[in-house]
Amino acid sequence: MGFPKIGFAKRLLVLYGIIFILVLLVTDWTLSHFLQKRDLQQLQSSLSRQSTLIREIATPLLKEAPKLQSKVKKLAEGTDLRITIIDPEGAILADSSETSEALAKMDNHATRPEVASALRKETGMSIRYSMTVQTKMLYIAIPILEHSQILGVVRTAMPITRVDEILASVRRPVMLAAVLGILIVLVAGILFGGRLTQRIGRITSVAERYAREDWSEKILMDGRDELKMLADTMNQMATSLRSRIEDLESEKGKISVILSNMNEGVIAISRRKQFVMANPAAEKIFGFTAAHTQEKSLIEITRHPQLERIVDHAFQEQKNASSEIQISGKIKKTLLANVIVLDAHARDIGGILVFHDMTELRRLENIRKEFVANVSHELRTPLTSIKGFIETLLGGALKDPPTSERFLKIVSEETDRLGRLVEDILTLGEIEQGAALVRKEKIDLASELPAILERFKTQLQEKKIAVENRISGKPLPLSGDRDKVHQVFVNLIDNAIKFNKPEGMIVLSADQSPKGVVITIEDTGIGIPEESLGRIFERFFRVDKARSKELGGTGLGLAIVKHIMEAHGGHATCQSTPGQGSRFSVFFPA
Ligand SMILES: Nc1ncnc2c1ncn2[C@@H]1O[C@H](COP(=O)(O)OP(=O)(O)OP(=O)(O)O)[C@@H](O)[C@H]1O
Ligand SMILES: [Mg+2]
Repeated sequence: MGFPKIGFAKRLLVLYGIIFILVLLVTDWTLSHFLQKRDLQQLQSSLSRQSTLIREIATPLLKEAPKLQSKVKKLAEGTDLRITIIDPEGAILADSSETSEALAKMDNHATRPEVASALRKETGMSIRYSMTVQTKMLYIAIPILEHSQILGVVRTAMPITRVDEILASVRRPVMLAAVLGILIVLVAGILFGGRLTQRIGRITSVAERYAREDWSEKILMDGRDELKMLADTMNQMATSLRSRIEDLESEKGKISVILSNMNEGVIAISRRKQFVMANPAAEKIFGFTAAHTQEKSLIEITRHPQLERIVDHAFQEQKNASSEIQISGKIKKTLLANVIVLDAHARDIGGILVFHDMTELRRLENIRKEFVANVSHELRTPLTSIKGFIETLLGGALKDPPTSERFLKIVSEETDRLGRLVEDILTLGEIEQGAALVRKEKIDLASELPAILERFKTQLQEKKIAVENRISGKPLPLSGDRDKVHQVFVNLIDNAIKFNKPEGMIVLSADQSPKGVVITIEDTGIGIPEESLGRIFERFFRVDKARSKELGGTGLGLAIVKHIMEAHGGHATCQSTPGQGSRFSVFFPA
C-alpha cells in the first residue's frame, strides 16, 4: 500500500503556511489603512491648529508684503511645513517655500479646491501632488475674516510621505515577525507533523498486517487523543475479528475433515449445474482433481450423461432422487447416486450429489447367489442319485440281493456325502460370522499333531504314503481356537493324501519368527496347474470335478481353511508344481 505522495503532515504544513500568509496580508492591509487614516487625521488637525496660529500672526502684516514673506519664511524654517498667504483674489502674498522674487510669477490660487473653500468662508482641505515641492501634500486653507469680510486665506501644507515612512518602519518588524512566525510554524509543523505521521504510520502498518490476517502485533499508542482511541478500537476489532475467523476456520476444518474422510463421494453443484466442490472420494470415483474443475459443469468433470439426466430430472421436479449408476474405466464400479436438491435459500449450492460405492455389496450379493446355486446343485446331485437307486431297488432290484447290497452301499456313501456337505456348509457359515466367534487359547501344535495324523492312519496305509513330521520334539506354541486349528490341519492333510501319488510323501514343518508361526504341509502329489492356483480357496472350486467327487470331496475344504485362518488374523497360501507336488502354508500371527 505505502503512504500517499504528499503526506498528511506536509499537507497540514502547507495549509498552515497559506493561512499564516493570508493573516499577515490582511493584518498589513488593515494596519496600513488604519495608520494612514489616523496619521492623516492627526496631520489635518495639526495643520488646522497651525493655520489658526499663523492667521493671528499674519493678519496684521497683510499690507506689508515683504515683512509677511520673511515672517512666513521664519515660521516654516526647519520644518516640512509650507505656509502660503493668499489675497481674496487668489494672488500669492507670501509663500514659505518661494523667494519674494518668485512670488510674482506664481499663478492664481483661487481655483485650488482648498483655497476655493476658504474663499467661501469654510475650512478647505485637499490632498494633492504638488509640482512646487514635488511630493504628495495635505493642504488646509482657512479664511482671514474681519467683520465677515474676507481679507485673505492662510494655507498650510505638509507632505504626507511621512505616513508611508511610518508604515515602512512598522512593516519591517511585522515582516520580521512574519518570518519568525513562518519559521515557528515550520519547526512546529515538522515536530508535531512528524510525530503525527509517525503515530498514523504505526496504525497503518499494523492495520496492513491485520489485512493480511497477521494478528501477531497490537497497535501500541501513547497519548489520550483520538488517535489513541482509534488504535484501541482497532485492537479490539482485531481481537474479535481474529476469534471470529478462528471459529469459522475450525468449523470449516471440521467439515473438511469429515468430507475428506468420508467413503462416500460428495459433489456440490450450483443451480446451473456448475461444479462448486467435491471431496477426495468423489475425485477418486470420477478421476478428476478439484484444482482443474474451476468453472466447469457437472458433465465436464464426471462425463456421465446418465448422472446428468438424473440431476436434471431432480432439479426439474424439485425432489431428491436416487439411482444406481455404472462407472466404466479401469475399475468398473456400481454407485448409488443420491441427488439432494437444496432450496433457493442456499444460494451458491443448488444440489449435493452423494455417491455410495455399491461394488463390493453387489459383488458379495453375486457370490451369495452363486453360492446358493452351487449348494443347491451340490445337494441335488447326491439326492438324485439316492432317489435313482432307491427307485431301481423298489422297481425289482431288491429281489437280487448282490445288486441291492451294491446299490444300498452307494446310497449310504451318497448319504455320507450329503452329511459332510451339510456339515461343511454349516462350518463355513459359522466361521463367516467373523473373528468374534474364534476363542483364542494357547495350543502346543507339536503335541496336537500326532492325534490328528492318527485319524488318517488307514488312508495313509492304503496309499502307502509316508509322513515326515518335523514338528515334534520341542513344543510349538500358538494362540487359536483348538477345534478350528484341528479342522485346518485335517483339511490340509486330507488333501495332501487325497491328491498324492501312491507311495508318496508328506512333510510337515514349522518356521517360528517374532511375527508368528508358519506351518508348511508339503506333498508329492499331482500338483495344481498354475491357472487354478488362484482359485483353489474359493468355495466349491475343484481342479478336476469328477476326480474330486470320486474322492468324496465337496470343494469346501480349502475355503474353510482360508476363513479359519482369516478369523485368526492369519492367512493360507499355496505353491505347486504340477506333477511334482504342492506346498500349503498357514501363518498364525504372534
Ligand atoms: N494337496 C493338493 N494337491 C493337489 N491339488 C489339491 C491339493 N489340495 C487341494 N487341491 C485342489 O484344490 C481343490 C479344492 O480343494 P478342497 O479341499 O477345497 O476341496 P476337496 O478336497 O475337493 O473337497 P473337500 O475338501 O471338501 O473334501 C481340490 O479339488 C483339488 O483339485
Ligand atoms: Mg479337501
